[in-house]
Amino acid sequence: MTTTLVNDPNTIVCEHPLCQQNLTIIRDKNSSSELFRNAVRRLTYLLLYTATQDLETEEVTTVTPMTECKTQVLKKDVKIILAPILRAGLIFSDIASEVLPTASIRHIGMYRDEKSLKPVWYYDKTPIMFDDPQKTIVFILDPMIATGNSALDCIKLFASKRIPVKNIRFVSLIAAPEGLSKIRKNFPDLKITTAHVDETLSKTGYIIPGLGDAGDRIFNTVEN
Ligand code: URA
Repeated sequence: MTTTLVNDPNTIVCEHPLCQQNLTIIRDKNSSSELFRNAVRRLTYLLLYTATQDLETEEVTTVTPMTECKTQVLKKDVKIILAPILRAGLIFSDIASEVLPTASIRHIGMYRDEKSLKPVWYYDKTPIMFDDPQKTIVFILDPMIATGNSALDCIKLFASKRIPVKNIRFVSLIAAPEGLSKIRKNFPDLKITTAHVDETLSKTGYIIPGLGDAGDRIFNTVEN
């Protein structure tokens, strides 16, 4: 079950019961880091399933132990890129590369300056130019769309390397309306898949109700 937001056909909210069940686990402040990570891994399957629904396939001939038949494979000339934004986005990359085994993983390193809430770049594993941008599909992976600043910078990076916006997708666990609007002002057609759109942002840029700092919860670095 998925929902498309009213007035925003390109934001897909995965309302599948299994998504919501795992979202409850990651929101709970008493969930350990281990429980948190396992729930995010399960969510990664569900979100990727949703985010890849419209990938194109082509017909091939396959020989089963019984006979020959026509089957479908992902289009062979399409290159898939997974772009986890460090550090929290790393949690998505194992499962995402299991679901999309031929994908290249191109890490993006950004942290949020706590005062300005603006992203600070420290790593970019993208090539100077992609070989065939028209046939490249990018999944940007970041658990939280909060202010939308780092999401926007990362989308702009791929767009500046000639990847068509229709080929760029963003996958997140939770999105804040403020971040979504910021992305939408610049990229109305970009496809976003998330498990929930929350209420708002705190003054310090945290999503409310949210789940706290995703990176700290994944890597067990929450300071009490
Ligand atoms: N990043 C997080 O990890 N959590 C938030 O609530 C906002 C940004």
